[in-house]
Amino acid sequence: MSRVTFTMLKPDSVRNGNIGAILDKIIKSGFKIKAMKFTQMTNEKAGEFYAIHKERPFYTDLVDYMTSGPIVAAILEKDNAVNDFRDLIGSTNPEEAEEGSIRKIFAKSISENAIHGSDSDYNAKIECEFHFSSDEIF
Ligand code: RTP
Ligand code: MG
Repeated sequence: MSRVTFTMLKPDSVRNGNIGAILDKIIKSGFKIKAMKFTQMTNEKAGEFYAIHKERPFYTDLVDYMTSGPIVAAILEKDNAVNDFRDLIGSTNPEEAEEGSIRKIFAKSISENAIHGSDSDYNAKIECEFHFSSDEIF
């Protein structure tokens, strides 16, 4: 099992001033930051990142949202990183997210849900390499 996962603090988290509080929660939950950048995705990049959802009705809104402002992208390390991080962020829909989870605390809706977490070791590797070159990972 891989020890890394990939995350993005989505544009609503940045806009609402929640970068610090969310990072604090991530670090206090035992994740170590291996790479991090503050950046804004282009339409092309967001479209490619979410290509798996291309046929879904929310795809255009998702790309518009993810390109609506800067994000914080990061690679995180911990034992069982992918699953533990999915537990920490909570369900996609914040109304269904567990008490204390990042989406429960910081997300307003299913479409603007504060944070991304890789859903498998396979995708974590792809997503880390999509956003970071090897000399940006420590
Ligand atoms: P993510 O990939 O961002 O970590 O979220 P997830 O795995 O929990 O959810 P996923 O099914 O991969 O959906 C990706 C993102 O698309 C938006 N979404 N909107 N309006 C809707 O019904 C809807 N469903 C999904 C959310 O921003 C979701 O995180
Ligand atoms: Mg997903």
